[in-house]
Amino acid sequence: MAKAKITGIGVSLPDKVLTNADLEKIVETTDEWITSRTGIKERRVLAEGERISDHCVKAAKEALDRAGASPDDLDLIINATFTADYVLPSGACLIQDKLGVTRDVPAFDLAAACSGFVYGLETASHFIASGNYKKILVIGADALSRFTNWADRATCVLFGDGAGAAVVEPADDPSIGILSADLGAAGRHHDILKVEGGSSFMPGPCLLTDASLKDKYYITMEGNSLFKIVTRLVADSVLRAIEKAGLKPSDISYFVPHQANIRIIDYVAEKLKMPREKVAVTIRKYGNNSAASVPVALYDCLKEGKIKKGDLVVFTAFGSGLTYASMVVRWAY
Ligand code: ACO
Repeated sequence: MAKAKITGIGVSLPDKVLTNADLEKIVETTDEWITSRTGIKERRVLAEGERISDHCVKAAKEALDRAGASPDDLDLIINATFTADYVLPSGACLIQDKLGVTRDVPAFDLAAACSGFVYGLETASHFIASGNYKKILVIGADALSRFTNWADRATCVLFGDGAGAAVVEPADDPSIGILSADLGAAGRHHDILKVEGGSSFMPGPCLLTDASLKDKYYITMEGNSLFKIVTRLVADSVLRAIEKAGLKPSDISYFVPHQANIRIIDYVAEKLKMPREKVAVTIRKYGNNSAASVPVALYDCLKEGKIKKGDLVVFTAFGSGLTYASMVVRWAY
């Protein structure tokens, strides 16, 4: 079975910056509280009228350029998101069209919240292993600002928007590329982070007849419980992925975790005995941009020369569901 490797990464973020000082004017909060509890200083948010699909396309073009490929070389598009432009059709179909792919290649959205990009990479690796797919575009993108309750200080300080993309191809050398993955979903915690409104259970018109439902059309979260659950789940998942690859935590060159909270990142890094200089931390600039978080952090590390060809890199993410996903990759370029 063919192994899979990442041959290009691209990123696109909105230009609009929302700082902690801006949030101090909206809700009762302080820069000191946000910085010390989360590590976030600012985040990028879509401007009015801006669409997340346009950022997906920009990120995809950059990833394709890096991989030396064109849109028509693709034979599958996986878009990990829960905040596509529309409920229907999928964001992946819009991206296919906007990218200018002229062939009817399969395209679908993958719903695993913040774990979506790593779920998408693992899904792509199995399509590659089938031998029938040679170039797959995996996107992780979300527009959480559009589902944020700007009156809820417990959530509105956390999230940002953005898109990251990867091109996945067969690896001729089995020691290069995706070496292992550990995916999980603890559905028993499905209530802990959710958006109920705009669904089949609570469709949009419900709000017209019952205005008290308003808050259910936004992200609601039991942050403190989530914090306690994920610290344990994520560290264990990372350790399983490393073990599946036949490696030890000390073999890992670089750790790229989901950027949800600096205290969660520090806890997991400490459990892995990973020194701070080997851990990607971009939360300060971008907040938690959900499925885009891992590719955006990875992109920054590549740009800064922190990850090089041959390095053993671990990705890990967690999100609503409660989903989690970890992956070990030997970097290919
Ligand atoms: N500014 C000031 N005070 C605040 C704010 C704020 N923005 N938000 C909450 N507080 C207050 C609370 O009201 C509470 O006050 P009280 O003690 O008087 O009741 C106090 O701060 C402590 O609140 P906690 O919720 O206990 O604070 P905690 O230390 O847990 O930090 C946080 C909250 C940052 C949300 C943390 O729990 C966390 O990061 N959880 C994980 C969240 C996460 O990872 N979410 C992403 C999942 S990914 C996805 O699928 C989108």
